[in-house]
Amino acid sequence: MKVLVTGATGNTGKPLTGLLTEAGATVRAASRRSGFDWSDPETHAAALDGVERLYLVAPVGVAEPEPLVRPFLARAREAGVRRTVLLSSSAVRTGDPGLGRVDQAVREIMPEFAVLRPSWFMRNFVGDHPVANGIRERGEIVTATGDGRVAFVDPADIAACAAALLLADDCENTDHVITGPEAVSYAEAAAIYTEVTGVPVRHIDVTAPELARRFTEAGYPEDFAAALAALDEDIRHGSEDRVTGTVQRLTGRAPKPLRRFLAEHVGG
Ligand SMILES: NC(=O)c1ccc[n+]([C@@H]2O[C@H](COP(=O)([O-])OP(=O)(O)OC[C@H]3O[C@@H](n4cnc5c(N)ncnc54)[C@H](OP(=O)(O)O)[C@@H]3O)[C@@H](O)[C@H]2O)c1
Repeated sequence: MKVLVTGATGNTGKPLTGLLTEAGATVRAASRRSGFDWSDPETHAAALDGVERLYLVAPVGVAEPEPLVRPFLARAREAGVRRTVLLSSSAVRTGDPGLGRVDQAVREIMPEFAVLRPSWFMRNFVGDHPVANGIRERGEIVTATGDGRVAFVDPADIAACAAALLLADDCENTDHVITGPEAVSYAEAAAIYTEVTGVPVRHIDVTAPELARRFTEAGYPEDFAAALAALDEDIRHGSEDRVTGTVQRLTGRAPKPLRRFLAEHVGG
């Protein structure tokens, strides 16, 4: 079976590429590094040639990716792709602005689909992300989440769910909310980070407009910065305070706890 993995150098695409290859699938890894660019449709046909199943990471940092992705999905269908596993977000419902419109397009165009709706990524604490940058530069995590809890998830666990859904005979045609094993506040996450690494980290709570201002200052487009800050406000009101059994159900093993993830990725 040939699977096209978009975002193949990214947080979920990279581990997914490894898992699919180990399982015996033929993987085409697509990102700008391999000559595939969402903003250049001339690169799309070659990526889709001979592909049966697709892992879809929509263009990142674009407030409305659907106009770029819908024509690609139509082309994919014409090229013989039957199944698409979309990386969306726990904060996004079908038809919502942004990724919700991509979700809608996948449901309309693909006969077989799965929509992954993961909670926030544990990688945000260690990768190239405002949370990780704040920790490295100032020992601070700045959010607009108050005491709201988030069930952070390891992107490798999301990739394992994606692999299971791409390889299964039946992929259920539904969405899957994916979380880690426990929900913690950013203050609690900061304390875990400190315990595991010995690096003092504290949580600073700001308002959503202040957070949006900081994101814009860091170079994010204004509409994207505002959308991200609004998600923090939802977390403050409890939107991410829940755990699901999706990783266990789809992969047969438990999701990784934040403490273990940080121990493996930051040291200690
Ligand atoms: N971070 C979170 O907490 C979180 C939570 C829930 C959902 N999500 C969702 O997860 C998705 C992925 O986010 P991420 O931050 O983890 O990103 P990522 O997958 O680590 O990185 C983006 C990937 O897309 C590729 N890419 C970027 N621009 C491209 C372009 N113009 N054409 C083709 N490929 C391109 C990049 O590779 P190249 O640079 O080689 O092109 C990279 O492989 C987003 O839709 C986000 O909303 C994130």
